[in-house]
Formats: sequence, structure tokens, C-alpha cells
Amino acid sequence: MKSYSIKELLSQNLSLQEVTVNGWVKTFRSNRFIALNDGSTLNNIQCVVDFENFDEALLKKVSTGAALKVTGTLVESQGRGQSVEIQVKELIVLGTSDPDTYPIQPKKHSLEFLREKAHLRVRTNTFAAVMRVRSALSFAIHSYFQKNGFYNVHTPIITGSDAEGAGEMFRVSTLDQKKPPLTEDGQIDFKQDFFGKETNLTVSGQLEAETYAMALGKVYTFGPTFRAENSNTSRHLAEFWMIEPEVAFNDLDANMDLAEDFIKDVINYVLTNCKEDLEFLEQRLLDEEKSKPQAERSDMALIEKLKFVAENNFKRVSYTEAIDILKNSTPNKKKKFQYIIEEWGADLQSEHERFLVEKHFKCPVILFDYPAKIKAFYMRLNDDGKTVRAMDILFPGIGEIVGGSQREERLDVLKEKIKALDIDEKELWWYLDLRKFGTAVHSGFGLGFERLVLFATGMGNIRDVIPFPRTPQNAEF
Ligand code: 4AD
Ligand code: MG
Repeated sequence: MKSYSIKELLSQNLSLQEVTVNGWVKTFRSNRFIALNDGSTLNNIQCVVDFENFDEALLKKVSTGAALKVTGTLVESQGRGQSVEIQVKELIVLGTSDPDTYPIQPKKHSLEFLREKAHLRVRTNTFAAVMRVRSALSFAIHSYFQKNGFYNVHTPIITGSDAEGAGEMFRVSTLDQKKPPLTEDGQIDFKQDFFGKETNLTVSGQLEAETYAMALGKVYTFGPTFRAENSNTSRHLAEFWMIEPEVAFNDLDANMDLAEDFIKDVINYVLTNCKEDLEFLEQRLLDEEKSKPQAERSDMALIEKLKFVAENNFKRVSYTEAIDILKNSTPNKKKKFQYIIEEWGADLQSEHERFLVEKHFKCPVILFDYPAKIKAFYMRLNDDGKTVRAMDILFPGIGEIVGGSQREERLDVLKEKIKALDIDEKELWWYLDLRKFGTAVHSGFGLGFERLVLFATGMGNIRDVIPFPRTPQNAEF
């Protein structure tokens, strides 16, 4: 007997055939109708049991969450909401689920409650839909780069350099040169000092990706990155996944073109391939919004929002132009953006970014040419001597989704910058080598994967789009 996934059962023409399916019980009604789900699709298959033909003790074990193997004939369904159902001939309870203690009941649970049950929450429709969309996006990302001639590079997770120079790294090992850690018998303690130098978990694969771009031309990374920043927001994780393309001979304009084309492509992929899940997530949002006052409801439903981003040009504005817009804007009736008015060169706060994207331009915005002093050491200095060829992409409801730049390719300028920022040049000798041997213009960016999943699913908190979120004081699973 061939086992089918529920997705196959619902999409292939198998009517009147004998089929076997495995899955978990969503609901069991009237001692007759089992709604079974196996995760392959949002939809359940209805399994109809003729209870007179089955042992009562067996049917008692069919409760929400139990794992079943069901064999029967696939027939057209008389019931509403499903095309086919299984008339059950054989039913095996593979694993029971105690209805009194199983946390995932067939009712609406709050996302906060489900966060405490991260190992089981993917059994809800919402999390299953989010994680399927996440998987599809991951595939679409690899696919985009592979079809466009990029090579995938696996950059190290454990590293000796701080790519962003922000000092927000998780320590792996330390070495106090004067007092190396010793074991009881006087040997260097390898557990504490494995590498003979200070090492950390990577905050970004960019610097290593640059070395590969300067040989393979077009490369990308897609891996976990770690930030020990104490940010308890709905947009920050301590462990998140980042996609970082890096391209030799691309300037900042080409970098912006790439980022925009890439994002549109992967959004289009999920629009085409995740229809059911997106429709479900959209409905979930619409239901949620019913309880909000009109003014707080979004003016576009989820799928419309995704289509809008896929079909319309992002607005490109320089930092200086953006500051002028903010200076001349009145976000609410009385208050102006005081902080911005006082000082050119200040970093934009999320309220400013939100205003530009959601109120002023009403579309994704690429801000470029930021003040040098608020950006990382490796960005290419402009001729004005005070701005760098940086870009951030800001998304409605999300804020910054991409950060990137053209890299400083001139050895002398880069060295000066490293010195001015008091970074140890010796730590970056290999990075400086790239500027000694065949240096060239090159650019890249980093896209925060979970922020993309947030946008694509319409979820409100980044903790709900990664299987096991790591945030300050939270690594339970
Ligand atoms: O702007 P960031 O810090 O840029 C870099 O790391 C560069 N080295 C990238 C490059 O040019 N190759 O981070 C890039 C993106 C942000 O725009 C944001 O989407 C995401 O990574 N990000 C985070 N996502 C979740 N939690 C955090 N704590 C994040 N920090 C950054
Ligand atoms: Mg950034």
C-alpha cells in the first residue's frame, strides 16, 4: 500500500484508490470525522470512520495531537470545504496524546503562549504556514543566486575579527598573553584557549566573502550570524540568518539594482508557490485587525502588499535628501523631528525611518550616502570626505531589512580609516592584502533573513518566524 502525503492526496487524481496516510489528529468529531494533518500542506484530510466497525477502546485513543496511520478508500467528499475524504478501513494509533496535558488544543492560542512551547507550536496552522513560507524563501534565495551565476561560500562561524566593529560579539575563547589558562598539571587549557587567540561567533560573513568575490567574482553567503546586543525588540534576535552577496566590479548603483531585483524575485517566488499559506496568513491578519480601530488597520492586505513590493520601484534617496524631508515634515500636528533638525550626521531612529517609508514615500526606500562617522570602517569614502557609499533598504512595517555598501578598495584610505577608528591593523592583515593584490571596486549587502520572513508572512514579532528564537535571557530550547 503506497503512503501519500496529504498534499499529494489533495492534488492528484486518486479517487477510488486505496491509500495510506500518516499524520496527527487535529480534531475528532462525532466519533466519526478525523481531521488529519501531516504538515505537507495547510489542509487536513478528512478521514471518516464507521465507528460500529472499530473497537471503542481504539477510538478513545484518537484525540488531538495523536499520531495515526490510516488506510482506506479515497472518495469524493459530500462535506463542505474538502474535495475528497478517506473512508477508513484500517486505523493504527502510532502515538497517543493525552488530551488533559497536550498544550496545543483545537482553539486559538496567543502567540506569547505558543512561544513558551516552541517545540510544539509548529503544529498550529499559523506556525506551520510561517515555517513553510520560510523554507520556500530559503530555496528561492539560493535559486536566485545560482541562476544568476553566483557561487555559495561558507564563511566561518568562529572568527577572530569583528566585521562590523560594533563590539557586539559572543565570545568563544580568550587568551590572556601574560597569564594563559592552565590545567591542573600545568598545560595550556585547550577548553578555554583552543585557538591561541581571542575568537568570537561571527556577526557577519562579509569580510571573508569579500576575499572570495575577489577571485570568484560573484558570491553569496547564507548562514547564521550572532549579535550580543541587548535589544529586546520585535525586530532583533541574538542569532539570526543573513544572506550576504558580494560582487567584484559592482559599484553602489549596481549593488542597489541587485538588492532590489533579488528581493522582488524571492517575493514573487512565494506569491506563486505559497498561495494557500499566504491566504491563510492574510486571513489571520484580517481577523486580528477587526479588533483594532480603523486608523490602525493597514490599508493593504498581505498579498496585495507583497505584490506592491514585487511590482513597484523602490525609492532611492540620499541620507542628506532624507534629512531635508524630515526637517520639513510634521509627523504629528505639533511636533517636528527636533533631533534631526539640530544635527546633520545623526543616525536615523526607527521613527524617522517609519515616517519616510510609511507616511512620506509609501513604498520601500533605499537610503544611500550616509555620514561616514555612523557607518562601518570598510565603506567607500565619497569625494566629499564626509559621506560613504552605504545603502540601507527600509521596508514598511519592518524598518531596515538590508544594509550594504560599496567597499573601500584603496589601501591608503582604508588604512587611515582603520587607524582613525583605533582598530588593530594586524587583525585585518588578510583583508588589507585584498587591496594590495589586484584591488578593484566591489560591493555587497546583508539581508536579515528573519526580517524578510516577517515581511512575507505579515507576522509582527521576529520571535515567531524562526523555529527557536534566541533573545536576551532566553535560550530555553
Ligand atoms: O546592517 P548590518 O549590521 O550589516 C552587516 O552586517 C553587513 N556586514 C552586511 C554586508 O554588507 N554584507 O546587518 C544586515 C542586516 C540588517 O539590515 C538586518 O536586516 C539584519 O541584518 N540584522 C538583524 N536581524 C535580526 N536581528 C538582529 N539583531 C539583526 N541585526 C542585523
Ligand atoms: Mg545596518
